Amino acid sequence: MTRTWQNPLRDPRDKRLPTIAGPCGLVIFGVTGDLSRKKLMPAIYDLANRGLLPPGFSLVGFARRDWADEDFSQVVYDAVKQYARTPFHQSVWDRLAEGCRFVQGSFDDDAAFDNLVTTVADLDRVRGTAGNHAFYLSVPPAAFPLVIKQLARTGLAEPGPHQWRRVVIEKPFGHDLASAKQLNKMVNEIFPEESVFRIDHYLGKETVQNILALRFANQLFEPIWNGNYVDHVQITMAEDIGLGGRAGYYEGIGAARDVIQNHLLQLLALTAMEEPISFNPRAVRAEKYKILAATHAVGPFTETSARGQYTGGWQGGQRVPGLLEEAGFAKDSTTETFAAIELAVDTRRWAGVPFYLRTGKRLGRRVTEIAVVFKRAPHLPFDDTSTEELGQNALVFRVQPDEGVTMRFGSKVPGSKMEVRDVNMDFSYGHSFTESSPEAYERLILDVLLGEPSLFPMNDEVERSWEILDPVLKWWQTHGKPEPYPAGTWGPSSADKILARTGRHWRRP
Ligand code: BG6
Repeated sequence: MTRTWQNPLRDPRDKRLPTIAGPCGLVIFGVTGDLSRKKLMPAIYDLANRGLLPPGFSLVGFARRDWADEDFSQVVYDAVKQYARTPFHQSVWDRLAEGCRFVQGSFDDDAAFDNLVTTVADLDRVRGTAGNHAFYLSVPPAAFPLVIKQLARTGLAEPGPHQWRRVVIEKPFGHDLASAKQLNKMVNEIFPEESVFRIDHYLGKETVQNILALRFANQLFEPIWNGNYVDHVQITMAEDIGLGGRAGYYEGIGAARDVIQNHLLQLLALTAMEEPISFNPRAVRAEKYKILAATHAVGPFTETSARGQYTGGWQGGQRVPGLLEEAGFAKDSTTETFAAIELAVDTRRWAGVPFYLRTGKRLGRRVTEIAVVFKRAPHLPFDDTSTEELGQNALVFRVQPDEGVTMRFGSKVPGSKMEVRDVNMDFSYGHSFTESSPEAYERLILDVLLGEPSLFPMNDEVERSWEILDPVLKWWQTHGKPEPYPAGTWGPSSADKILARTGRHWRRP
């Protein structure tokens, strides 16, 4: 049963205070992994520090290590000290540490899961977690079925009256449509869809949520948000990091499965969707699904898609290895570290407007942005020479790292001649707001504990996203290797050709 606890001390008219989670606990599987240490544990502390966790909140770690509760607490402490966003307060930490428990075991170990049942029951008794527990699967996908079946076998998946049980699943949700369907079916046999929270951490980012605010809270943009005015949309997620240390996850997966299937298609959905009738989770997700249902990859893929693999090069003044030299990758690995595709959205609003998506590792710099590029003015009453340096107007959502929005338009260059050149008008979070943005995982973990599903993709969105990507993946499988590109550049030349064939070009952010 989905239930939101309301803090009796909170005045609902006070918009400054976010809702505090009711009595509950969180169990993390895969607690020794990087995600847990770098993102989940710090986010939990930051929530506690902001007063958003209930007083008896409890955190249970489950892993194979031979740890006592105190060892686990120490690991959480170290992670908090190193990665938390907000300042360290001893009193907040002490309270959180009182609720830390550790259960040792592997996922096929029935006795360990029986111990988990006892631990959870004990927390309900001594910490007042009230039978409300979320199970976070920060584990490799191959382990999902095992853990979920154990949760079913032990009854942990089943809430008692007035209690809730929720499962949080990290991507990847399968590796193609068929496996995603299978996974969703298996999960939904045990947890009802409203208790399943699939994490796409991009949806937890402030700047991503701002896409909907900017589009639907203003009069300025919506009238021109269509194929009459928009020439094309480019969505870029560029990273400067390489894949050292991540072979176990990334080899055989590649850039398209890693981020296009989830983060970038979600960004496309938010950019292109129609206005929801309200911000009710069902209404927002329905609009996102509709736009994904209308989206397909445009062919021929030899001209409209590109895949690349970084080779050694220079980045930030340092020599960096190529993928084939990174530990754990096969010497003849064909895993792509760069992917770009062209999509079409078959609706009246977007007919004829290409959506270009690209992502890559070891690119020129770290930047994620959505650029809505507008058509040229139908008539320019200037000499040709006056507008030589005038490009196309663009509205750019700067998702990270320099969060904000840029509007790009032509302006007269000061002087006696009429010369028009592109200029930028910037909104930056840092200048306009004093609060710093919470980390995506803070927002998402809190939403799980509150039972607020808006920012989590539903099973049909996930399946539809695979359906969009599958034809490209299949084509790549049978058409050669990824094209090499040197680290520190903007990817393979085949990516430029996708846009060049229609006289367009990628932005150099
Ligand atoms: C993850 C991908 O989902 O997102 C990683 O698996 C990627 O490959 C990461 O590095 C990027 O996240 P962020 O928040 O740093 O843009």
